[in-house]
Amino acid sequence: MPELPLSPADLHAVLAPLPAARPLPARAYWDEGVLAFEQAEIFGRSWVCVGREDEIARPGEWLLAPLTPAGVVVLRGADLEIRAFHNVCRHRAATLLDGACGRLSQLACPYHGWTYELSGALRAAPHAPPGFDRGAHGLLPARAGALLGFLFVTLDPGAPSLESALGDAPPWLTRPELRSLRRGRRVEHEVAANWKLCVENFQESHHFPRGHPALERLTPCGDAVSWGRGGPWLGGIMDLAPGAETVSTSAGRGARPLIVPEAERRRVRDAMLFPGLLTSLQPDYLLTYRLTPRAPDRTLVVADTYFHPAAFTPGFDPADVFAFWDAVNREDRAICERQQRGLRAPGYAPSTYAMVEDGVHAFDRMVARRYLSALGARTR
Ligand code: FES
Ligand SMILES: [Fe+2]
Repeated sequence: MPELPLSPADLHAVLAPLPAARPLPARAYWDEGVLAFEQAEIFGRSWVCVGREDEIARPGEWLLAPLTPAGVVVLRGADLEIRAFHNVCRHRAATLLDGACGRLSQLACPYHGWTYELSGALRAAPHAPPGFDRGAHGLLPARAGALLGFLFVTLDPGAPSLESALGDAPPWLTRPELRSLRRGRRVEHEVAANWKLCVENFQESHHFPRGHPALERLTPCGDAVSWGRGGPWLGGIMDLAPGAETVSTSAGRGARPLIVPEAERRRVRDAMLFPGLLTSLQPDYLLTYRLTPRAPDRTLVVADTYFHPAAFTPGFDPADVFAFWDAVNREDRAICERQQRGLRAPGYAPSTYAMVEDGVHAFDRMVARRYLSALGARTR
């Protein structure tokens, strides 16, 4: 049974109805024990998004997911099945693959040359003793699957199926057309802040007027409405301001086709999948941010932008989208890092949620419930 690094009283204070609730204590954002607990009990027990299904479309294509220090290899088998393995040789534990992604026909350890099939089975083990059981020394598997065009991995052998764990997704992400979106760009950055601060920042828009004046002009925060069904997804819906076609430096979408139904073209819909996938569906593109905690005060963010496949014509130039979000993401990074520094001030203690922070509260409740259920404590 893991030791609880936060007190049950603090956790129950988060679970109270919003006007009476108290945010998570400051140490939840900087304590090493908290992160170790969250790695084991939150990230280690959830289905975690590791990319899009088409990143490993062909047999032998693989990507390396940063779910553990060694990484988890997610690959497409010769039989087109999606599989995941710990990136660790069964001989003497050298890591197998380097880099972000690639394609191969077998996995070969760079140390002494043990080789593995795409199925994970051990093919060759040079100088193994007579009678060595190759069948018992395949790569260590993790569970993997695809849903809504995304790839997921869980390190928990006892986790419910992917479909039952994540099935109740926001309706705007379940349209089959979205599975064929194509990635226009990937950027990665590190934020010097706890991963939960990054999610909380995403979960509210009342920092827009001060934090993102340009974004506030296109999607005013006064129109924001929260969405949730009690599962691991939380959402938020905003309307585009009059005259704006999309969120970009030009406020126009040029020749980019819509990726939402015509009737939805004036809406922006955000969704967070607990714990670390943030999505934002714009009329003509989808943004995703995958968060991986690196340290209590450091978070890796992988940000992808997807467009309709028909957008990729010779003149396709989404610089107006990229420039807009680069600026917004810089602004969010700065504010989260400012908050991270403040959380270490002696005597600081959390006060209250603003009444428009129901999305932040809903996320913090998910965190608090995971803590309490990890201990088998009763939650309200
Ligand atoms: S550690 Fe991989 S072959 Fe020895
Ligand atoms: Fe923001």
